[in-house]
Order: sequence, then C-alpha cells, then structure tokens
Amino acid sequence: MEILMVGCGKMGGAMLRRWLDEVPARFTAVNRTPSAIPDGAQHAGSPEALDGRRFDAIIIAVKPQQIAEIMPAYTPFLKEGGCLISIAAGFSIASIQRELGDNPVIRIMPNLPALIGRSVNGLYADPACTQAHRDLATQLAETTGTAIWVDTEDEIDRITAIAGSGSGYVFEIARSYTAAAEEMGFAPDTARALVLETLSGAIEMARQSDLSLEELRNSVMSKKGTTEAGINALRRDGWLDQLLLETTGAAYQRAVELR
Ligand SMILES: NC(=O)c1ccc[n+]([C@@H]2O[C@H](COP(=O)([O-])OP(=O)(O)OC[C@H]3O[C@@H](n4cnc5c(N)ncnc54)[C@H](OP(=O)(O)O)[C@@H]3O)[C@@H](O)[C@H]2O)c1
Repeated sequence: MEILMVGCGKMGGAMLRRWLDEVPARFTAVNRTPSAIPDGAQHAGSPEALDGRRFDAIIIAVKPQQIAEIMPAYTPFLKEGGCLISIAAGFSIASIQRELGDNPVIRIMPNLPALIGRSVNGLYADPACTQAHRDLATQLAETTGTAIWVDTEDEIDRITAIAGSGSGYVFEIARSYTAAAEEMGFAPDTARALVLETLSGAIEMARQSDLSLEELRNSVMSKKGTTEAGINALRRDGWLDQLLLETTGAAYQRAVELR
C-alpha cells in the first residue's frame, strides 16, 4: 500500500506519526517545510519528484483555502481505483471533485489529540467509494483514536463544530481557568497542575461512570456549599449554555462557508 500525504502540519503531522508506527503502508509526504515531515516517511520535494509513482490513497491535509491551488499537481499520481481522503474542515466532497476530478473521496474529521491516539474522528464516504476505501479510512482513523461513520456530509461539518474544533475550546477554557487560579495567588506551574488534574480527573471519572453529567454535577454540589456558589456564577441564568451554543454554532457556520 502506497499513501501520499500532502501537507504535514499540526494535524496531518500528528496523524502521520501514528500511521508510521501502526499502519502497514509506505508513506510519502509533501510539505512546504520538509523538516516537519516525521522520520519514517519518504519526502517528496515536488510533484515532479513523484514521477512514475502511483498511490492507493492521497491524503489532503493542507488548509481548505489552499486545496484548489496545491492539490491539482498531486492528484494525477492517484492509482486507478484509489481514493482521496480529506481531513480539511468544511471543504465539501462536491468542491473537492470540482477541483480535483471525479475521484472517490472520503472525509475524515479528526482532532488534535490524534498525537496521543485519542482523536475523535468523524468519517463520511461519497457513494463512489468501495468497501476497501472505507476499510482503509477506518484503519487510518482508528490508529489515531476512534472512527465514527456518519450517513450525511452535513454531519461531518457538525462533528467539526463539536469535536474537530473542540480541543481548541478545551485549551481555551483551561487557559482561562488557569488564569483565574493565578489570580487567586497560585504560581503558574501550580495553577496549571491544579486545573489540568482537576479537568482530567473529572473527565476520566465521568467516562467511567453510568451517571448522567447532570447527576455527576449534582453529586459534588451540596446545598449552600462552595461548589454550588461557583456553579451558580458559572451558569449565570443560562449564560453558559448560550455561550456554548454560540461557540459551536459559529464553528459550524464557518464550516458551511468553507464548503
Ligand atoms: N488543527 C486542527 O486541530 C485540525 C482539526 C481538524 C481538521 N483540521 C484540518 O487539517 C488541515 C491542516 O490543518 P493544520 O492545523 O495541520 O494546519 P497547518 O499546521 O497550517 O498545516 C498545513 C500544512 O500545509 C503545508 N503547506 C502549505 N503550502 C504547501 C504546499 N504548497 N505544498 C505542500 N504543503 C504545503 C504547510 O507547510 P508550512 O507549515 O511549511 O507552511 C503546513 O505544514 C486543514 O484543512 C484543517 O481544516 C485541523
């Protein structure tokens, strides 16, 4: 199996590192900055350097706005019967096929914890894809985390808004929570440890629990206690719910604009 990856930045690079360890295929990568390509992948300096080679799959891992400019030079190297796999946010299968010809396309929407094998991956295949294409995409996704197949392409854009962009929301919430801990007088290292351990301990406990998230919240909130005081300030008459609706809604809208 020969796989070409075009774009090897934060997201593509994180996925490729896992694939190199676990997927029995030969990976070739192209990136503007070659030093970002992980050891173990062959480096192709230009489309011309690929002359004579053909790939079972080509991974689109450049920015959505760059697909039309960068990708047409690489798709001629797709084998007959091969497929394109795009991790780009928003950019639709119809747009990919408009720019890159009538090849079968699978969209995978990953998130950055792919680096540690904990990506949540949404997958959608255009009807032209074969079971072999779907099996390859499942294998690539599962090597970086979980594979969740969906029935409509719109669900990929909704997964983008919840999970693809979601690690960014979590980092931002953790940053703000840490700033509040520093404001209370803790040194930056201590504030970071307090916040990250609190978040990961609570999340791991929720993952292992059969209780609903509401029940879990109530279990740490005694009447007139400190947690209740904090949570009342956090929820502020539905303000937190509204904020997260706006956050995910804005990301979904951006994905729709990028289609
Ligand atoms: N980051 C995330 O959390 C995330 C989550 C889900 C999906 N995605 C999707 O993943 C894709 C990549 O995002 P990213 O965050 O990894 O962005 P990124 O770090 O900017 O990666 C894009 C890569 O494309 C390379 N590139 C630019 N021009 C090129 C060219 N002419 N030929 C070959 N390579 C070129 C860049 O190289 P240089 O750095 O040298 O310019 C860079 O390494 C996007 O489509 C995004 O929507 C990202």
